[in-house]
Amino acid sequence: MTGVNIIGVGKYVPDLIVTNDMLSEIVDTNDEWITTRTGIKSRHITNGEPTYHLGAMAAKEAVQDADIDPKDIGIIIVTTITNDFSTPSVSCLIQREIGAIGSLAIDINCACSGFVYAFDMAKRYLETDKDIKYALVVSAEELSKITDYTDRSTCILFGDGAAAVVLELNDNKMFSSYLGADGTGAEFLLVRSYQSETPFTTNHDRFDDKMPDGNSHYLFQNGKEVYKFATKTLPSAVINSCEKIGITPADLDLIIPHQANIRIIETAAKNLGLSMDKFYLNLENHGNTSSASVPMALYDAVKDGNLKKGNKACIVGFGAGLTYGGVVFEF
Ligand code: COA
Repeated sequence: MTGVNIIGVGKYVPDLIVTNDMLSEIVDTNDEWITTRTGIKSRHITNGEPTYHLGAMAAKEAVQDADIDPKDIGIIIVTTITNDFSTPSVSCLIQREIGAIGSLAIDINCACSGFVYAFDMAKRYLETDKDIKYALVVSAEELSKITDYTDRSTCILFGDGAAAVVLELNDNKMFSSYLGADGTGAEFLLVRSYQSETPFTTNHDRFDDKMPDGNSHYLFQNGKEVYKFATKTLPSAVINSCEKIGITPADLDLIIPHQANIRIIETAAKNLGLSMDKFYLNLENHGNTSSASVPMALYDAVKDGNLKKGNKACIVGFGAGLTYGGVVFEF
């Protein structure tokens, strides 16, 4: 079976830490409510550094850890929903910062499932293009850009951060992926982008009546619907990605889920009949950092020894779109 070696890992978070108590000074909330409903205690927030800077710092560490020349990177895939510019892409800016000039550079937006999608995509590029020796996957997010800090139901959930991995192909490692999306749930989690308002526009009616009304560029969420979706898709993505290679979730050494909310992960663990010990968690100190959350957790798991060479692991994501996905791999 063809899989991948993760030959380098990197992570970067801004210095500024915002605690639940700090949030309770700006909205009507408290540490006890946030902790019991989400498991989150604090999150890192940018103090002005752009998204690409966080990504470039994580990428530099990953490349250094892999001990490769950045010029040998054949593809850079960046996952983000909080790009600094509509164009150029974050991947081009990170490429410039790390000196990987000439590589293919692409941004993808699959929301919180982004890293899982990109990990699978990188493996497919490595497999089908023999000129690509190393792939760099970077997930960089600043959810603070799209968070309304007057809305207590969302501002408590999100944080900023980035993480990166360098991958190469390995012809003798297990790998399977199960990715998908359900666009019928698009209206449950969204961030509105620009609308075309030209001097010629005469029709100002809302074209898409399925999406909630409004002009805010802040994240909108139907928390209950997202919760239902997440508790259903997290277990099914784990089960289906395992099934594809003839193993069961119980055979996994570690599951690294999207760090959205402790209650979602606890419910998924119960539905899978697995103990919480199998799930890696770092959401307490990071909150939900969208696509960066899985690789940030993967990085921490590598550094604290919870993910060891030879382990069978599953990374699993779910989020806006609605998207979901699981990848099983041997570390
Ligand atoms: N502090 C205190 N009270 C709050 C609050 C806060 N930060 N946020 C909401 N509340 C209040 C509500 O106003 C409501 O009060 P009311 O009953 O007087 O109207 C009450 O708490 C319950 O609100 P509700 O929205 O029903 O809470 P909940 O138990 O559904 O928890 C979430 C809210 C957001 C934590 C939960 O829905 C969730 O985790 N959803 C998934 C979110 C997610 O993970 N999104 C990202 C996926 S990628």
